[in-house]
Amino acid sequence: MTRIAVIPGDGVGAEVMAPALRLLQVLNVSEGLGLVFDSFDFGAERYLKTGVALPAGQLETFREDYAAILFGAVGDARIPDGAHARELLLGLRFGLDLYINFRPCRLYAEALCPLKGKRAEQIDFVVFRENTEGQYNGIGGFLKPQTGEEVAISTEVNTRRGVERLVRAAFAWARRKGKRRVALGDKSNAIPAHQLWLRVFREVAAEYPDIEARHLYVDNLALQLVQRPEAFEVIVTTNLFGDILTDLGAALVGGLGLGASANLNPDSTPLFEPVHGSAPDLVGQGRVNPMAMFLTAGLMLEELGHSKAAARLEGAVARAIRQGQVTGDLGGSLSTAEVTEAVLGHLEASG
Ligand code: NAD
Ligand code: IPM
Ligand code: MN
Repeated sequence: MTRIAVIPGDGVGAEVMAPALRLLQVLNVSEGLGLVFDSFDFGAERYLKTGVALPAGQLETFREDYAAILFGAVGDARIPDGAHARELLLGLRFGLDLYINFRPCRLYAEALCPLKGKRAEQIDFVVFRENTEGQYNGIGGFLKPQTGEEVAISTEVNTRRGVERLVRAAFAWARRKGKRRVALGDKSNAIPAHQLWLRVFREVAAEYPDIEARHLYVDNLALQLVQRPEAFEVIVTTNLFGDILTDLGAALVGGLGLGASANLNPDSTPLFEPVHGSAPDLVGQGRVNPMAMFLTAGLMLEELGHSKAAARLEGAVARAIRQGQVTGDLGGSLSTAEVTEAVLGHLEASG
């Protein structure tokens, strides 16, 4: 038995999680996966009632009793500073030491790419985003707040250990998957601390002479990603840059409705979540695209060692996309429920 913790969260989180669990249940039965799902009501509602987003002891429970966490989205207008989202989502990423944020960008159909003349196979890269350091540590604050002399400080932290383990993970994955190119995106020209990234990148790259290692300043990397996405296979970057580049990457392949992500550490309980947020503009309308959540569930199956089930799930999503069975964000007219039925049909047919 493999226990999965399910956190639908806020906004559209529940609207994409419920259909994803239906697909997972089909695979659970037909592939005999032995997955058991426990739901947790963490999110804005509970935070507003209790003042707590991630209850004490929860990290230990997840670490000890669960093989994975499947997460929908967080974000609620009633908590405008996002305090509960940071406590919950960053609390899980940092608390479980999930240092790899793995975010694939794959073009499933040419029509989904906003760039001119790109063939589907030309866009297929993965971002290894650092996930436990950078500017996301909360170190900093406000001096003379609410005055004309206010100073807002945010300290970026990059440790040798943190950078090296992420860069190593990116190269190791590249070799395992037969990829030929790894690119680093940093800002070491303007931010001296980023020279640590460049040094570590060059050191690790020297151990992989079979892989072409390219260093780009991240502003140029963003430009190149739009102009020549086919030049990229694996991108390794900081927490904040990875956040921004993966929304850009999602835009290249159809938008946030297709952005999947995995938060990983081989020695901890992984967390799987779509790249998108709680999409308040779509809540309750039945038209959110559930495919990012489906692809995210696929990443979870892969990580749990269920490669065949993962391939069936990704294949079913890809087939629905190619047949135009998609929601409005991808240019279609189907509802969330109709897309779910279409993907379920393809999944059952693949069994
Ligand atoms: P968002 O990702 O929620 O939405 C951005 C845009 O993309 C919106 O127009 C939305 O309608 C669209 N979109 C997102 N997901 C979609 C889907 N599955 N199908 C179709 N369209 C989709 O980002 P935002 O508007 O900047 O943030 C809203 C809230 O979500 C904020 O509170 C933010 O902090 C939070 N957030 C959470 C996460 C997370 O849980 N991992 C990620 C990003 C933002
Ligand atoms: C993401 C989100 C989060 C991030 C926010 C909600 C803290 O944008 O998962 O991409 O910045 O990591
Ligand atoms: Mn983001």
